[in-house]
Amino acid sequence: MKQPTSAIKDRIDALVDELHEHSHRYYVLSQPTISDAEYDEKFRELERLEKDYPDLVRPDSPTMRVGAKPLEGFPTVQHKIPMLSLNNAMNEEELVDFDEQVRRFLAKDGHDLEEIEYTIEFKFDGVAVSLSYESGVLAQGATRGDGTTGEDVTSNVKTIKSIPLRLRGAKASKGSVEIRGEVLFRKKEFESLNAERQDRGEETFANPRNAASGSLRQLDPQETARRPLYFFAYGLGSVENNGDFSRASLSDAMKEVENLGFSISPGFKTVKGIEALRSAYRDAEEGRDSLPFEVDGIVIKVNDLALQERLGFRQRSPRWAIAAKFKPVEAVTTLEDIIIQVGRTGALTPVAVLTPVRVGGVIVSRATLHNQDEIERKGLLIGDKVVVRRQGDVIPAVVAAMTASRTGDEKPFKFPHKCPECSTPVERVADEAVTRCPNPSCPAKTHNRILHYASRDAMDIEGLGDKMVALLLEHGVVKELPDIYTLTVEQLQELPRMGELSSSNLVEAIAASKKRPLSRFIFALGIRHVGTKTGAVIARSCRTIERFVKLDEGTLLEMEEIGPETARSVAEFLGDSRERSLIERLVDLGVHPHPEAAPVSDGVFKGKTLVLTGTLSTMSRKEAEDLVVKNGGKVSSSVSKKTSYVVAGESPGSKLDAAMKLGVPVITEDAFRDMVR
Ligand code: IVH
Repeated sequence: MKQPTSAIKDRIDALVDELHEHSHRYYVLSQPTISDAEYDEKFRELERLEKDYPDLVRPDSPTMRVGAKPLEGFPTVQHKIPMLSLNNAMNEEELVDFDEQVRRFLAKDGHDLEEIEYTIEFKFDGVAVSLSYESGVLAQGATRGDGTTGEDVTSNVKTIKSIPLRLRGAKASKGSVEIRGEVLFRKKEFESLNAERQDRGEETFANPRNAASGSLRQLDPQETARRPLYFFAYGLGSVENNGDFSRASLSDAMKEVENLGFSISPGFKTVKGIEALRSAYRDAEEGRDSLPFEVDGIVIKVNDLALQERLGFRQRSPRWAIAAKFKPVEAVTTLEDIIIQVGRTGALTPVAVLTPVRVGGVIVSRATLHNQDEIERKGLLIGDKVVVRRQGDVIPAVVAAMTASRTGDEKPFKFPHKCPECSTPVERVADEAVTRCPNPSCPAKTHNRILHYASRDAMDIEGLGDKMVALLLEHGVVKELPDIYTLTVEQLQELPRMGELSSSNLVEAIAASKKRPLSRFIFALGIRHVGTKTGAVIARSCRTIERFVKLDEGTLLEMEEIGPETARSVAEFLGDSRERSLIERLVDLGVHPHPEAAPVSDGVFKGKTLVLTGTLSTMSRKEAEDLVVKNGGKVSSSVSKKTSYVVAGESPGSKLDAAMKLGVPVITEDAFRDMVR
């Protein structure tokens, strides 16, 4: 092991601080001030230093977010203060009752108050957790469990980026501080998670709450790390040996919690009196669909902490708080039929056809049933009365059958043995929940494949949407994906509802897609497990389409961030002669994805790290950074012994002093320009 110097230790400290700061700006404030690449650069520098000096690895290092080994089971944790539940108010009347009870209770106690001040925040629909910080560093994360005893999920909560590994601010570094809140999935990420799982033939989660709970309780923290969970704090638990926390009002305390580096409920506010409370409840319900996460109500708490103390607790819930629930987004309707849709990868998805019903303000007539097992698990029969639930933007789901109202006329659904689109016998791989149509030229697959190819994140062909693809296939002008590049204005004009302008626009849009970056092309092919990110990783590594088609599983596995499943899937795709000839045909028809920009491997700054300071007179900071990268070097934002040069412009800052101290060569802007010339 190398002997650390104090400069190394300082560098590690500085990197940890910087990375925490940037992570907070990115994940909590959503206001990043550096690029992802700069963040990664710092992260990798820290990883290298920690590898060389394992004794200097700090428990709050951002590299500690992942890395813990899988567990056999979760140890249990006793909560210092029980984690209680909340009483519910189902409507405004019950809210009025709550306010009256609070005032009556306090009046008994000699506090005759006309109007009580309450805090308003959302009731998150996730998993309650308690986070314990010792001297400011995250020491333990635990689930609520039964309220008294929870499970120790420390390694898993560490992977959640919106949970600070170290509290911000000086006052936080003393004693022990417990933060309580909710771990949840935001809607968008929940939907992508389910889409990916469906694609992989895995079971999908019924709702974001189940997904959060399942993800937080993974025995392998690496798996939790792959799930984009989020954390909102809603309160302080036990605080010991730290008298600096505000003990006057909950709203002050929550401001402090926010300053410690946490996200608190969006729209957190205080209101005074029952009328203001009622209108806040109405407003919150109206805005619920525009939130990025699921909520089923608001939580109302007495703001004055002294009054909270007087009010105290009932058996399992505080007298000073209530959850005011929103109207349910569930309704009862009839399951008229189950139809099967065939996706791009050939997956057969059962879809419930429902008697249209209004759920939370929207008419629902279809709902996904995910797969065959789901229908069996729920024991659904055609003709059943079913409960459907709409979860914000999430596709409506059939929750359960109301078996008590069966008449005997309900019929079981038989999952087809043949593809409903092309009659090819379907296949179901053992261990997979998904049934697939194996026919490579199944029209439904072709349809969805073209749709995916043309989609915004793929080849971005405007005008080639669902209806247009159907039209082209129906009239036989397109049989396979590459045929789109043979379409002519004349041909299109013959189709119903197609004029000259729309036809030539489409032909132009298709032609424009011939030159897209390779990363998009790889994504556009619709290979299982290959999303936009994986497409970019592969493209960055192989750079040209010629090299892409020659990739084998071993080479793919060597790429950063590519797992065995993805490697296998890509290799299988490229090894399939039909897919190969499809790619060849695309190329023959003029599809030439651009190679990804190559990093220069032998420029003047090869292997060098440069730091820029001060104002440059002939170029912007960004231009200078690009020049460094173009010439094979790296740019860092802080000076260390490993810095090769510091480029000093007008009025350089402390980086110049640091360079002098560490003996790092300092060059002028002129010298820099000479070097790159
Ligand atoms: S305060 C003693 N605030 O609801 C009060 N809880 O039924 C403790 N929850 O398990 C909770 N959002 O996980 C509070 N803004 C919020 C909340 C919230 C969701 C959950 C919490 C608890 C359950 C109580």
